Amino acid sequence: MSPEAGKTDAAVVVRVPAKVNLALCVGPRRADGYHDLATVFQAVSLYDEITALARSDGQITVQMTGEGSEELPCDQTNLACKAALVLREWAGDATRHGVDLRIVKQIPMAGGMAGGSGDAAAVLLACNRLWGVGLPLEVLSELGAELGSDVSFLLYGGNALGLGRGERLTPQPATGRLEWVFATAPRGLPTPLVYRHFDEMADRGAIVPDAELSPDALDDLCSGEAARVAARLRNDLQAPAVELYPQLADTLEAGLAAGALAGLVSGSGPTCAFLAADAASADVVASRMAATAGGVRDVRRAYGPVDGPRIASGRG
Ligand code: C5P
Repeated sequence: MSPEAGKTDAAVVVRVPAKVNLALCVGPRRADGYHDLATVFQAVSLYDEITALARSDGQITVQMTGEGSEELPCDQTNLACKAALVLREWAGDATRHGVDLRIVKQIPMAGGMAGGSGDAAAVLLACNRLWGVGLPLEVLSELGAELGSDVSFLLYGGNALGLGRGERLTPQPATGRLEWVFATAPRGLPTPLVYRHFDEMADRGAIVPDAELSPDALDDLCSGEAARVAARLRNDLQAPAVELYPQLADTLEAGLAAGALAGLVSGSGPTCAFLAADAASADVVASRMAATAGGVRDVRRAYGPVDGPRIASGRG
């Protein structure tokens, strides 16, 4: 059968944002290997775009282009593919529903900005529509949590407090607009490795695991006021990420020297996030970093919070 066989012309396009953690407070390792978190997610304006094209022969394929996509397997170990499989299982019709997923990546890969989780969230949303499954967002979010700790948040966007593994969400006010500069790194840092190193540092007393975030800190982080947010930014995975990837210390210093109010490793890294006082100052930070910083792959401007994924266009 030709690769084109079995397709229909139904198509759904979804744009999904990246995330940064304004706070990532990490508790001790749990019996199931995960860590309890208190984290404040913010969706930011770097986007992957997912086009889902219906196939009637039951096949699920993934094609990726853009930012670092050559490093990703396009098979059923890919989180986007897994998302389609999980939804299809829910829909209970394994023979009929198929999809070609075309993913254009702009979110850094293995960069601590949840690009993979975002793609999975977008695929859940797209296939839910494409296949006429009709699940509400809350149920998609439960399915998403099985795929990865950040997938639920990326279905909602805005600002949210995440507890548990990060999947128990409480939406927060999404007022104001924070101006960000992101410095991506030449290589990725796998999330499990960073958590393992966090445990090692805890074992040798270099870190005290503590998944507590005060209500005042949460208020400040969701205030939309750059100075209040800057004073509260916190990432407990930063120390292990920097020990694993010492160059990040130089990148963080370079961002501050370029005029950022504050900088931190984004999630499990290695992307570094810099918060600026306003848009003009963020532009200056971005251009200074682009001109000077060795060890940085790319410098991106973005703002947050932004809305979660939306169906940009759909037929069928
Ligand atoms: O949930 P997700 O697949 O994104 O997590 C990737 C890895 O990160 C997990 O396998 C685990 O090692 C680590 N992790 C953790 N505690 C969390 C979230 C992730 O230990 N709350």
